[in-house]
Amino acid sequence: MKTQVGIVGAGPAGLVLSHLLHLSGIESVVLETHSRSYVEERVRAGVLEQGTADLLRETGVGERMMRQGLIHHGIELQFGRGRHRIDFAGLTGGKGVMVYAQHEVLKDLIAARLEAGGTLLFDVEDVNVQELQGPKPKIRFRKDSEEEELECDFIGGCDGFHGICRPSIPEGVLKVFEKIYPFAWLGILAEAPPSSQELIYAHHERGFALLSMRSPKISRLYLQCAPDEDIANWPDSRIWQELHARLEVAEGWKLTEGPVLQKGITGMRSFVVEPMQYGRLFLAGDSAHIVPPTGAKGLNLAVADVRVLAAAIVEFYASGKTELLERYSETCLRRVWKVQRFSWWMTSMLHRFADDNSFDMRRQLAELDYVTSSRAASQTLAENYVGLPFE
Ligand code: APR
Ligand code: PHB
Repeated sequence: MKTQVGIVGAGPAGLVLSHLLHLSGIESVVLETHSRSYVEERVRAGVLEQGTADLLRETGVGERMMRQGLIHHGIELQFGRGRHRIDFAGLTGGKGVMVYAQHEVLKDLIAARLEAGGTLLFDVEDVNVQELQGPKPKIRFRKDSEEEELECDFIGGCDGFHGICRPSIPEGVLKVFEKIYPFAWLGILAEAPPSSQELIYAHHERGFALLSMRSPKISRLYLQCAPDEDIANWPDSRIWQELHARLEVAEGWKLTEGPVLQKGITGMRSFVVEPMQYGRLFLAGDSAHIVPPTGAKGLNLAVADVRVLAAAIVEFYASGKTELLERYSETCLRRVWKVQRFSWWMTSMLHRFADDNSFDMRRQLAELDYVTSSRAASQTLAENYVGLPFE
């Protein structure tokens, strides 16, 4: 098999890359280990920056998002016994975010790729990448027990944190930057009408809590828990009890419960590798960097990477120029580190750290008080949350 761009992974990075290349007449093949239904049903995050939502809408895959997604122009920060709204629209000249589940975005992208005659190969096995330093890198894989080889000009390493692309880069080439947080998030999807119009990020002495949503009928809620927590210790009743305790601080405000549809625990880390390129292999998304979910940036950063990569590949085929390709890593890393900083800051400001003392607790409350009472400080949060401008 031959193509122009071989893409490993059908997550947000891989599918948006394939879509953007298609719009410029560049062929790609996407290889995914899981089945289509698994990818389309895997519950992940669900907040799109203004720029991400605009890109999906402007490139023709945003119709359902615009119909079913929820546009939010602010969030609530809760601490002490009060809530404070961060007015995104007022602080960023009208920008906001789109609450629309990641797997719904993937459904729309897969449908659009297939409708356009794109090649998406699901359920592939034993994927490995070869000859990355040569002019024609290769991706070998097994499909329906047949050994296959895909020859291409470029490889998009969009296979996430646990993929094979990053580990295929020889020892010593990549610099790794990592921070593991001493807590995790226990998340639930519940058939309960959201008890708030907008997301609530709650600082509480019992630990962080987040009220988010998927639709007027479906809530998405998170609790800070121990890093090695066992979900078996969390019957639904205990989860709701803890959510009530951490979220019900405002007089008369009640959290509405409902059947828990899905629950799970996700670890929290900050991770970056430099550079994000090795020969003709370009890492994008979680294969190159992970952010803690507190800033809702994972999906958005993956899309930001492939926006840069697609433009660089389009330039190459249009003019043979390789400048943008050569600057791919440095261009992406400028945004990656700003987003890492924001995600670390939100995480540090809102979570309880086991070795924190009463001074740290007061410092966090003072920071939250400053962020919610200073226009300059709340503007900083707002412009990072809705998404920093693209270079
Ligand atoms: N071969 C083919 N596909 C693979 C392989 C492999 N060896 N290993 C992993 N994959 C697939 C995974 O099954 C997944 O569908 O690559 C895809 C990677 O997708 P994501 O993990 O979603 O990563 P990315 O596209 O970078 O998007 C990052 O997704 O997970 C969220 O929180 C994360 O929001 C972030 C966003
Ligand atoms: C979600 O809706 O899943 C969500 C929202 C905001 C976050 C993280 C996750 O910061």
